[in-house]
Amino acid sequence: MALKIAIVTDIHHGKDAEAKKGSQALQLLDGFAAFVAAEKPDLVLDLGDRISDEDPVTDLRLEEEVSAAFRPIRSLAPVFHICGNHDRDFLTIKQNEAILGQSLANITLDAGGWRIVLFRADTLIRRPGGFTCPESDLDWLARTIADADRPLLIASHVPVSGHSQIGNYYFENNPDSSTYPREAARTRALLRGARVPTAWIAGHVHWNTLTTIDGVPHMTQQSLTESFVMSGEAGAGEACGAYGLLELTRDELHWRVFGADALQVKVPLQQMARRWYPGLPPFAENPAHRERTDRIAAFQASLEAAE
Ligand SMILES: [Fe+2]
Repeated sequence: MALKIAIVTDIHHGKDAEAKKGSQALQLLDGFAAFVAAEKPDLVLDLGDRISDEDPVTDLRLEEEVSAAFRPIRSLAPVFHICGNHDRDFLTIKQNEAILGQSLANITLDAGGWRIVLFRADTLIRRPGGFTCPESDLDWLARTIADADRPLLIASHVPVSGHSQIGNYYFENNPDSSTYPREAARTRALLRGARVPTAWIAGHVHWNTLTTIDGVPHMTQQSLTESFVMSGEAGAGEACGAYGLLELTRDELHWRVFGADALQVKVPLQQMARRWYPGLPPFAENPAHRERTDRIAAFQASLEAAE
């Protein structure tokens, strides 16, 4: 039996903004509700950025409209929300909690032999300063990983893989805004210490990616309303309508993203428990590499001299 988790992220309800087709968000959420009704998942995750922020008053209304759109979904399966940066620009965590009717603290949920870790570290972007992952959240995550006695799926808004943003409409020229720039490496070091199969899924970067580090698959799921992947002509794309389904068993992680920007990933659990050799130091600092480099350089120089 698989544990089934339906996932939607970066809904961005509001006005169309940059490549985000926020004006179509509620209609696309109705489609997600139909998907949940058909798939009957054990739980539903919203990975944050429910709105495209405008101002404190408008944002309250937008969040309430999104929460209302989740009502039929809540009658089908337990729904867990995470805040993204746009949910925090003009609103507090408390305001989001009141609208969504749930605590937005870090929690774990045990189901189907897995432990689902809702890592709700703050996603407030300080201006200036950017994303900062609070120490208290990192401490909580460290304890959660140390205490794990079953496979972990960690869900957050902000990814920590540090994956390349080349080609990303938002982040190619703003890579520091794609992650916690000061804490992502420490977070990955915590994952390296995990003794159980571990996977991470995040939103925020508005594209589907798989980046495997130390055996841990880091997935990012495409936004419900994103259009930049839909056309080479800026502004010509339609919303891709992406939402995902994660099926977790004792043997395998199976992640599918549906809609017009689809993807499918399968990873055996065995691989997710493996950790990798630590990376080599810079080649120039490694005597064996230096000796070989010098030998090859001398050989190439002798060939060139002979020509
Ligand atoms: Fe977003």
